[in-house]
Amino acid sequence: IQASMIIDKDFVIGEVDSRIYGSFIEHLGRAVYGGIYEPGHPQADEQGFRADVLELVKGLDVPIVRYPGGNFVSGYNWEDGIGPIEQRKKRLDLAWRTIEPNLIGLNEFMDWCRKANTDAMMAVNLGTRGPDEARDIIEYANITGGTYWSDLRISHGYKVPHNIKTWCLGNEMDGPWQTGSKTAVEYGRTACETAKVMKWVDPSIELVACGSSSLTMATFPEWEATVLDHTYDHVDYISLHQYYGNRDKNTANFLAQSMGMDRFIHTVISTADYIQAKKRGKKKINLSFDEWNVWYHSNEADSKIEPWSIAPPQLEDIYNHEDALLVGCMLISMLKRADRVKMACLAQLVNVIAPIMTANGGAAWKQTIYYPYMHASVFGRGTVLVPLIKSSKYDAKDYTDVPHLEAVAVHNEEKSEVTIFAVNRHLEEALPLELDLRSFGGCRVIEHIVLENDDLKAANTVDAQDRVKPHTGGNATVSANGQIQGTLGKASWNVIRLK
Ligand code: AHR
Repeated sequence: IQASMIIDKDFVIGEVDSRIYGSFIEHLGRAVYGGIYEPGHPQADEQGFRADVLELVKGLDVPIVRYPGGNFVSGYNWEDGIGPIEQRKKRLDLAWRTIEPNLIGLNEFMDWCRKANTDAMMAVNLGTRGPDEARDIIEYANITGGTYWSDLRISHGYKVPHNIKTWCLGNEMDGPWQTGSKTAVEYGRTACETAKVMKWVDPSIELVACGSSSLTMATFPEWEATVLDHTYDHVDYISLHQYYGNRDKNTANFLAQSMGMDRFIHTVISTADYIQAKKRGKKKINLSFDEWNVWYHSNEADSKIEPWSIAPPQLEDIYNHEDALLVGCMLISMLKRADRVKMACLAQLVNVIAPIMTANGGAAWKQTIYYPYMHASVFGRGTVLVPLIKSSKYDAKDYTDVPHLEAVAVHNEEKSEVTIFAVNRHLEEALPLELDLRSFGGCRVIEHIVLENDDLKAANTVDAQDRVKPHTGGNATVSANGQIQGTLGKASWNVIRLK
């Protein structure tokens, strides 16, 4: 097995929009209560936010966090989460069959965002509600003062408007599990009217229309075409959601699934461009991949949870080494379309299918998937270069011609650095790699970070928090002819940093 890759600073795919390293906090399980917020915890700050969790979030340099859902938002009354905390009502959350105590709402979440050095991507409820609620929340959040809702915000202690720039028009409205799910026409019309009033209140905002809940939905991609047909003039992005699992314990096939993600992205771009052509429009609709991850480990446990408790452990996937590899491949898939994928959210951030885990009253630690996500976010800023790759290949159950090498390069001109992100999908053998850097000439290797493990199922837990973690012992070096040569260990995630 072997691979080579050519990159050239003039072969540009596009600028990385830093928002592709976004994440997601939903009112679900222990994401909010017991995750970012746990008053009484030894590390809780004056508002009850966990400082240890904030530190781990900051380590990821997360630029934007989607909130408050997810399925939760489709039955949520945002007004329940504002005003004096002691007067807030407990409500049934039908999406996750829990009780929502409403101790955290819009204002507290914005406080947390400031502490985490991130922005909010706010979702409005288009399940049980519509344009009326949406115009109110944006007036509350973004208008300076002098109106009912903006003055109410000021009376709640928030004089300066939050100025939330990015808004999702509902969540997964094509899914029968969604509270108030809709046909494409019903949703397209509601989303259009909601978008209009929201932009009338604040023309500076950007809006995301719901695409399909996954690429396997029967209505994909007709859904996208119909929704954009109705909303093209008023929205800026269409969303994509996709989760993968390894239910049949076939790791070679599991790791090939990012090829499905490549196709998914390609099809949504094509559909958006078809509508642009149909409308004779100037505007390109870009992509917001605002839910993506591995999600399946917790499915069985979740089916046994008793309903109507507050913040039970839900969707608490414990991620292993192979999950981190697929997460790396998925990041590479999005970078390869940096020209059109402008936002993305790893779903989610804390405890719920998350890179960060906590024990109630106890420690906070990094799951395996924390590492590829962190590396991409920290080192993957700049311009994505076309990866001209030759690689040996394999056939898997659902995919043929799967390259052993999955890779992409990001050029950070400001720092004069090039970073290669690369996964070796081969489960038994190391992959020799030759990198031809042509126009860069005279590069040196800053470091070659590797995430590898003999046990594909190895995971980090509260008692073994560092079982899976990266090292900097990769062997990439400059060879006599000026090329970079290295070996990518079997089943490994690699970050080769060059200057
Ligand atoms: O992220 C978990 C859930 O997955 C979200 O609430 C929903 O949008 C999706 O189905």
